[in-house]
Amino acid sequence: MNHKYRVVVVGMGKRGMHHALAFHANNRFEVDGICDIDPIRLDAAAAKLPDCVKGTDALQVASTVKPDVFCFCTLPNLRSEMIRIGIQSGARLIAFEKPVALNSREGMKIRKMLAASGVKAVVSHQHRYGEHYRKVREIIDSGALGRVHTVYGTATAWMMHNLSHLIDYMRWYNGTAEACWVMGQAAGGGKLSDSHPSPDYIAGFIQFANNVRGVVECGAGAPDVPEVDYWWRKCRIGAQGTGGFAEVLTAGGWRAVTKTGATSGGGCMNYDLDMSPYIQEIADWLDDARKVHPCNFESAYAGFEITMALCRSAVDGGQVALPLTDAADEIEMLRACLVDRKVLPSTPANAREYAGTAANVVGVSS
Ligand SMILES: NC(=O)c1ccc[n+]([C@@H]2O[C@H](COP(=O)([O-])OP(=O)(O)OC[C@H]3O[C@@H](n4cnc5c(N)ncnc54)[C@H](O)[C@@H]3O)[C@@H](O)[C@H]2O)c1
Repeated sequence: MNHKYRVVVVGMGKRGMHHALAFHANNRFEVDGICDIDPIRLDAAAAKLPDCVKGTDALQVASTVKPDVFCFCTLPNLRSEMIRIGIQSGARLIAFEKPVALNSREGMKIRKMLAASGVKAVVSHQHRYGEHYRKVREIIDSGALGRVHTVYGTATAWMMHNLSHLIDYMRWYNGTAEACWVMGQAAGGGKLSDSHPSPDYIAGFIQFANNVRGVVECGAGAPDVPEVDYWWRKCRIGAQGTGGFAEVLTAGGWRAVTKTGATSGGGCMNYDLDMSPYIQEIADWLDDARKVHPCNFESAYAGFEITMALCRSAVDGGQVALPLTDAADEIEMLRACLVDRKVLPSTPANAREYAGTAANVVGVSS
């Protein structure tokens, strides 16, 4: 197929550049417009992406280019406004970054806007393309774990950065089963004022419709992954079954123990490697409606709902049924209940990373 899909990318920071360069490198796409409110970033991006319309106003750039794909990689405070611009521009697909939104009110609004417009959307949970992530899925699919009864994920970084990823891959390892209810706890309010506002620590259980149990924890109280040096990548995600377990470490390969013995292999999260298939599958979905992108919005939204329900449970106590039916601002709910609540970090490294929230961190000496 020779037709190239025309792309606009908004937000030329770290992830915007990853997206723009990956679209540019794929011969099914051409980047025709770029936008950032920061002229220095915009010029730096334009030097790498010549012959583009460039501007500081997303609506103006998108209205001029009329792209097939509207991609935005702004911080999480900007979501529904960009979705509106993407729809208005006539794009057939909107590609954006996790988290889906900062609260269920905005998440539900985005979902309604997308459903009403019929525009496809994908959310960047691209770690799943890593060879080590795929190996775990392969082992699960092979049946070597027997009946999978538990999926789990831990990350030391805070919720709005990493919980979206953890839940997406846990759901993937569990055949994307629906979740029926969750129950959660949260501690520490220091990161509620971050650009990715979050409780310092959140943990909980997920009941999936196929009776698989999800166990997840994210933030200051999450356990170390000593095999991984880089703090931001101390994430462990896996599945346990009647025949053994298999798990991935975001920056430390994979390992499994099954009836035939222990096996392991390499692999490390790598933006360059992971973005390329993620972008290719956007072209595949645009070419053929049956080739639904694995990072499609509805799947990401299911994970997002789990996160929001965990927050509600942490605030209100008890189990929270899914799907959510009413809208709320979960971060504001957490703010009201976590103020002055201290977190107990699980490691000195976690204590350091949450040191900006010193008043909220107790109990660990470095
Ligand atoms: N999928 C992943 O692996 C991954 C990794 C890191 C970050 N992220 C997510 O990507 C998103 C962006 O993170 P980042 O690290 O690239 O942030 P960043 O701060 O590097 O980039 C954001 C850019 O958006 C620009 N911007 C802000 N408002 C704008 C507007 N109205 N119009 C145009 N541009 C605007 C900023 O000037 C900035 O250049 C976040 O949601 C983050 O959680 C995802």
